[in-house]
Amino acid sequence: MDIMFAIVTCSDTRGIERDEAGAALVELIESEGWSVVSHVAVRDDARDISDAIRTATDELGAEIVLTCGGTGLSARDVTPEATAAVCERDVRGIAEAIRAHSLTKTRRAMLSRARCMQRLVRDSDGSFTGRLALVINFPGSTKAVRECWEAVSDQLEHAMKMTSGGGH
Ligand code: MTE
Repeated sequence: MDIMFAIVTCSDTRGIERDEAGAALVELIESEGWSVVSHVAVRDDARDISDAIRTATDELGAEIVLTCGGTGLSARDVTPEATAAVCERDVRGIAEAIRAHSLTKTRRAMLSRARCMQRLVRDSDGSFTGRLALVINFPGSTKAVRECWEAVSDQLEHAMKMTSGGGH
């Protein structure tokens, strides 16, 4: 079963050419036989991040958007808020599972405000398409994205089946 991913790296300092964490995610996704429909880097700007998420889900067909970075405690860390601005439903279990797994790697995992949410995908006229996309916030370091991927990747196929109305 293919899954269409988009990666949105959020950083004031890392452009796409220096985005090691995003590149690591591309490799991890493709090694599962899944697809990356887009990989972009945007500044730590809430509107830019929200726009990138919306473009990925509504225009490019991404079923899962992985954001990377901007989840910490500084004023410039706005990825969780930018995610919430374009998503309707919290998926707390995934965020909790990532945090629990991450805490076994570093106590600093408690310093990430990362969320996981679902977006109601819309047509160009704004009407709901019937599809839901999943947006998962990862922290920005390459080490962190590898650990977060390890925490959730085995559940993503089932999550996509459930999302599209499949039974167990
Ligand atoms: N989670 C995992 N799994 N591994 C890590 O190394 N780093 C933490 C935390 N979560 C880390 C992690 C640190 S040091 C910070 S400051 C926060 O994520 C926020 O990171 P961000 O601002 O890059 O999003």
